[in-house]
Amino acid sequence: MSSQTHVFPGRFEGKVLLVTGSASAIENEVIGFGGATAWRFLREGGTAVVLTDVQDDLGERSAKAMRDAGFTAEFVHHDVTSEEDWVSITSYVIDRYGRLDYVLNVAGIQDTMKIADTPVETWQKVMDVSNRGMFLGVKHGAEAMKKNGGGAIVNLSSMAARWASPYGAAYAASRAGMTHFTRGAAIQYAADNVRVNSVLPGWVKSPFTKWIFSDPKLSKYRTDRVPLGRWGEPAEIASAILFLLSDDASYITGSEMLIDGGVTAGFFPPVGE
Ligand SMILES: NC(=O)c1ccc[n+]([C@@H]2O[C@H](COP(=O)([O-])OP(=O)(O)OC[C@H]3O[C@@H](n4cnc5c(N)ncnc54)[C@H](O)[C@@H]3O)[C@@H](O)[C@H]2O)c1
Repeated sequence: MSSQTHVFPGRFEGKVLLVTGSASAIENEVIGFGGATAWRFLREGGTAVVLTDVQDDLGERSAKAMRDAGFTAEFVHHDVTSEEDWVSITSYVIDRYGRLDYVLNVAGIQDTMKIADTPVETWQKVMDVSNRGMFLGVKHGAEAMKKNGGGAIVNLSSMAARWASPYGAAYAASRAGMTHFTRGAAIQYAADNVRVNSVLPGWVKSPFTKWIFSDPKLSKYRTDRVPLGRWGEPAEIASAILFLLSDDASYITGSEMLIDGGVTAGFFPPVGE
């Protein structure tokens, strides 16, 4: 799988995409969901991509790789928990490109502790990046989209929204919050022609999970529990995101799309048991 598979030429002609948490967008390195989506959006005719993140050096390198490939892309420092940053980035995009069509809320952090060991500060930080960040992204993103008659937003949740694990309770709770917030946002912005959906990936090879898939024991524990028998690739998440952003999904809003290789479909005995 690569981010170049299944390109639909011209699908995003004239459109402008803003992607948070997208610093890791260099194709021959471990790429994030935002990066995989941005590359394919550009290859499908997108006018411009604005990558944002708090990792500035990596983000700048990623945007340069896209420009070197002949596309219009730039990186802007943007902390998703800051309302000031959201006001500034959305007005910048409108001033620079004349429109904002799509927002992809990717930024996220994880906690790996048991509840008893989780400091309040960690809980709050996870909630702030996931939920406050997404709330601000919908609030300011939709406002900007109204200026060009509508648009679409995808919130990057997780299968953890449905399927709890023995660690990361803050992460799972924040992801469940994302999918439910998405429903309310879909209802509130439907009249403005702004669709809002969420995607729920399972175990996918990206910078977020490098610490797991690069450890053979931790990696096998996961793949043994995936009915499709392997890790997902960021390009496979990008496919779903781009479908939901595109006009092919014109009657889809408030939905959640699971992309987990079947992990949460039902009971699946680990391989060998
Ligand atoms: N990889 C997986 O298996 C998996 C599965 C389910 C869900 N997810 C979710 O997908 C999202 C993207 O992860 P990814 O796999 O592309 O990995 P990633 O690590 O490339 O993306 C997360 C990005 O969020 C950025 N970020 C953190 N705090 C931020 C803040 N305050 N403001 C702006 N940016 C901030 C990080 O710098 C990082 O670049 C995350 O929200 C994660 O929860 C990942």
